Amino acid sequence: MKRTPRSNPRSAKPLRTVSIVGTGSYVPEKILSNADLSRIVATDDNWITTRTGIKERRIAADDEYTSDMGAKAALAAMEQAEIKGEEIDLILVATATPDMVFPATACFIQTKIGATKAACLDISAACAGFLFAVEIAQQFIACHTYDTVLVVGAEKLTTITDWTERNTCVLFGDGAGAAILRHRDGGSHGLISTHLASDGNFADILWMPGGGTRHPITRENADDHLQTIKMSGKEVYKQAVIAMVDAAKKALAKADLTIDDIACVIPHQANIRIIEAIADRLKISVDKFFVNLDRYGNTSAAAVAIALDEANRSGRIKAGDYVLMVVFGGGLTWAGSVIEW
Ligand code: UT7
Repeated sequence: MKRTPRSNPRSAKPLRTVSIVGTGSYVPEKILSNADLSRIVATDDNWITTRTGIKERRIAADDEYTSDMGAKAALAAMEQAEIKGEEIDLILVATATPDMVFPATACFIQTKIGATKAACLDISAACAGFLFAVEIAQQFIACHTYDTVLVVGAEKLTTITDWTERNTCVLFGDGAGAAILRHRDGGSHGLISTHLASDGNFADILWMPGGGTRHPITRENADDHLQTIKMSGKEVYKQAVIAMVDAAKKALAKADLTIDDIACVIPHQANIRIIEAIADRLKISVDKFFVNLDRYGNTSAAAVAIALDEANRSGRIKAGDYVLMVVFGGGLTWAGSVIEW
C-alpha cells in the first residue's frame, strides 16, 4: 500500500535569507606582460591597452591545475568564513577549463580542502558561470536543502588559448575565486535578486569547438587548433554590452532598487571599453565599477569571483552596501545579481 508522507519538508518552512559569508581568491605567480606577448605575436602594449585595458595576466605553472587554484581560493574563503571542510554540504565549480572532462573539478577540490561530506558538481556556463552557480547555491540554502555551499570560479584558460592568434591570445589569463554561502539571521538581506539568461543562437560567436563529441581531437585534426577559444570579437563585444545592461536592469527591478542605490558594480572583467559602455548606458559613474582586468585579463568564470574577493578584502564593499554583479560569456550566457553586503 502506498504510504503518504505527513508533510513535504521542502514546502513546510519559509525561504531563508542567504549571504556570502566569506570570499577568497588565488592567482598564479607568473606574470605575462603585454611586452612579453609582443615577442610571441604581432602586437604591442599600446594596442592591447587602448583596445582592452589589459596590462598583464597570470599564467599557471604546467603542473598547477584548475582544481589547485580553486582549492587555494576556497581555503581562503573558508578561513574568512571561519568554517571547516566538513561543514560544507555542496561544492559548485564554475569552469570552462576543468582538470578533466570527468570527474568534476569540484570532486578534486573536495579532496584538497577536506570537504568530506559535500556533494560536488561543475557548472558549465562559460564566463557567466560564477553567478549561475551562486544562484543555484542560493536556491539550495533558501529551501533548507543545504546550510553551507562553496562556490568556486576557476580557470586555466591559457591551456585553451591559441598562442598564434593575436585577436584572442592577448585577452585571457588564469586564476580562481571562491565564496562561501550560508543562511545568516538578521541584518543584511544577502542575495536579494538574480536574473539569469542564455541564447544558444549565438553559440558560434564564442566557443571552443574541439574536444567534445562534435569534433573529437583526432590525429587528422590535431593541428587545426580546434581545442582553443574562437571568438568573433566585435559581435561578442556588442552582445556583451546589450546583455549586461539588460541583466543589471532586470536584477535591479526584481530587487526593487535603482542604479543610484548601488555602491559598487562588480562586472565581468573582459574589456575596459565594455565596462565604460555599460556604465554609460546604466547612467552610473565608471568609478563605481571594481576593475582588476588590467592585472589579470579575462579569467572567464573566475573573473567576477576574484574581483568580488578583492573588493571585499580591500574594503571597497562594506556591510550594508548594495552590490551589483554582472557577467557575460559563451553560450551566450549572462546574468546580473544584487546583494546587500
Ligand atoms: O569573456 C567573454 C567575453 N569576451 C569579450 O567580451 C571580448 C569582446 N570583444 C572585445 O573585447 C574586442 O572586440 C577585442 C578586444 C577582442 C578586439 O577589439 P576591436 O576593437 O573589436 O578590434 P578588431 O577585432 O576590430 O581589430 C581591429 C584591428 C584589426 O586590424 P585591421 O583589420 O583593422 O587591419 C586586427 O587585425 O586590430 C587588429 N588586431 C590587433 N592588432 C594588434 C587584433 N588583435 C590585435 C592585437 N594586436 N592583439
